[in-house]
Amino acid sequence: MWLATSIPAPCTDLADISEVALNPALIKLPLFLLCLLPLAHLAQVAITDAHDVESIEAMTRGLGGWALNFLLLTLMLTPLRKYTGWTWLAPLRRMLGLYAFFYAFAHMASYLGLDQRFDWQAIIEDVSKRPFMIAGMLGFALLLPLAVTSNAIALRRLGGKRWQKLHRLIYLASPLAVLHYSWMVKADIAKPSAYAALLVLLLGWRLWWRLREGRGIVAGSASRKPVRRVIPLIVKK
Ligand code: HEM
Repeated sequence: MWLATSIPAPCTDLADISEVALNPALIKLPLFLLCLLPLAHLAQVAITDAHDVESIEAMTRGLGGWALNFLLLTLMLTPLRKYTGWTWLAPLRRMLGLYAFFYAFAHMASYLGLDQRFDWQAIIEDVSKRPFMIAGMLGFALLLPLAVTSNAIALRRLGGKRWQKLHRLIYLASPLAVLHYSWMVKADIAKPSAYAALLVLLLGWRLWWRLREGRGIVAGSASRKPVRRVIPLIVKK
């Protein structure tokens, strides 16, 4: 009888699993390194074929693709956290958001520096011929204040409410990024359409969730206060 009450019950259903929290500090470093892999791969390809115009183009495109991937991944974290109760996902949002900015910056730098060699006359001509770039520039301009203020000092200075309002710019930057991509593609629109559909789903979910919250309807998993059961990945003996 004593034994039966002192042994913790194993996780038997999904609800139990959702209450398990991992230690974010232990996930951050591997995730940080993982997010650098696309950059390492693209850089390696560019270095191998250094003088190949096509490889520069492929790198610019690859960096742009990853900027978009990270933007959507950042938007995915909140719904995932709300449904699973995995609170350890919250601190990872900032890292993924900063990676979106970093890849967008590298994408733009690759275009301006490697592709156009900072020939501003040629850049202006190119932008006037391919206006999809204006959407990209606007998207990047909106990500800039988010990257600059994604630290504790800026949060303290702005105050929670203003900081949150400012960070809603991601809801404008991400459609502009998808528009930039869709506008660019002329023939095979399958991929940009898939990105657009995913974005509509993610932004639509947010709107729906806010409306539910406004009406005081709180979904089952989120209403339960998650029990933080931190499972250390490294156990000290
Ligand atoms: C939020 C910021 C941005 C995102 C997420 C983004 C994303 C993308 C994506 C996904 C592509 C297509 C990649 C592919 O074909 O697989 C692309 C292409 C391109 N982007 Fe961006 N972009 C951004 C900002 C910019 C900016 C600021 C510029 C220029 C100043 C720019 C210039 C270009 C160019 C020139 C291409 C076409 C590359 C080529 O034809 O070789 N982008 N971008």
